[in-house]
Amino acid sequence: MKDHVRSNWHNAVLVCRKCSKKLDGGFGKDGEERLAKALRRHLSLKKGRKAAAGIIEVNCLGICPRGAITVVNGAASRDWMLVRPGTDLDELAVALDLTASADARDPD
Ligand code: FES
Repeated sequence: MKDHVRSNWHNAVLVCRKCSKKLDGGFGKDGEERLAKALRRHLSLKKGRKAAAGIIEVNCLGICPRGAITVVNGAASRDWMLVRPGTDLDELAVALDLTASADARDPD
């Protein structure tokens, strides 16, 4: 059995699934999409390890902010972000070091 597996991820971003559920959307064109999905779509990223970056929904991270979503940038994990609904996804992508991933976006 292999002891490691390669991925194409340039970075990994953890998004709290429970915060996202509580907000019931808040992102995307009509404000009805969850953050992880909206960000993936905005950057044309696929799911899984073949994507240029990983945007993963994870269990509660223990912050539980009201009206925001806890997000961890894997490349800068000492500062966690609390992202409010309607946040500009371009600015968020820059803050999360995802722009290089967008440049290497997945071909469709
Ligand atoms: S519910 Fe998101 S950090 Fe706890």
